[in-house]
Amino acid sequence: MSKALQVAIDGPASAGKSTVAKLVAQQFKYIYCDTGAMYRAITLAALQEKVALTDDKAVTKIAQNTTITFKPGDPVQQVFIGTQEVTQAIREPQITNNVSTVAAIEAVRTEMVEQQRVIASRGGIVMDGRDIGTTVLPDAQVKIFLVASAHERAVRRYRENIKKGINTPLSRLQEEIEIRDKKDSTRAISPLKQADDAVLLDTTSLSIDEVVKKISTIIMKIQHEL
Ligand code: DC
Repeated sequence: MSKALQVAIDGPASAGKSTVAKLVAQQFKYIYCDTGAMYRAITLAALQEKVALTDDKAVTKIAQNTTITFKPGDPVQQVFIGTQEVTQAIREPQITNNVSTVAAIEAVRTEMVEQQRVIASRGGIVMDGRDIGTTVLPDAQVKIFLVASAHERAVRRYRENIKKGINTPLSRLQEEIEIRDKKDSTRAISPLKQADDAVLLDTTSLSIDEVVKKISTIIMKIQHEL
C-alpha cells in the first residue's frame, strides 16, 4: 500500500489552493483540510458574539471554545461551528475583509495550529493555508507553494463572482487581494512565506487540471522514494 503522506499547500489569497487541494485529496483518497476556513469560522463566531476583533483575549477565548468540523460535500466541503452550518456564511465579504485581523492574533494561531496538527497526525491529508509548510507541518513530505499574479487572481475571483451574480469591479478585487497579501505576508506571527523545501508552482498560465497533475506527479514520486 502507498504511504499516507502529509501534503502542505500554501500560497496567497485566491491562488487556487482550495480547488486544487480538494482535487488532489480526492485523487489520493486523502482528507482535505482548509485551514483558512478555520480562521474564517472564528471570525464569524466572534462577530456573532459581538466581540470586538481587536480584543485579542476575547477572540482567543472564542477560538479555544469553538469546535470547528468539516464534512465532505460536493462541490464544497461543509463547515460547522458546533452544530451550526456556516459554509456560505464564512465566505461573506464581512468575514473576508476582517479575517486577517483574527489570523494575526498569536494565541488564536497557537490554538488553530494545535487543532490542525491533530487533524493531520495520521497522514493521508492535504492541508492548505499560509503557514502549513513552515509552521503547522514542518515535516510534511510534500510541500507546495502556489502563486499567481495579483491580476490573474483578481480575474479568477471576478469570474467566480459573476457566476454567483456578484458584480464587484475587477480593479477593486485586485486591490482587495493586494491588501490581503500585504497583511498576510507582513504580520509578525507565521507570515505567509515559502518554506525552504517547498516546490514553487506559478499557476498564472496553468489550468486547474495542469496544476493538479503537477502536484500528483510530485506526490507519486515521493511515495515511490519512501
Ligand atoms: O485562504 P483564505 O482566504 O480562506 O484565508 C482566510 C484568512 O486566513 C487569510 O487572511 C489568511 C488567513 N490564514 C492564515 O493566516 N493561516 C492559514 N493557515 C490559513 C489562512
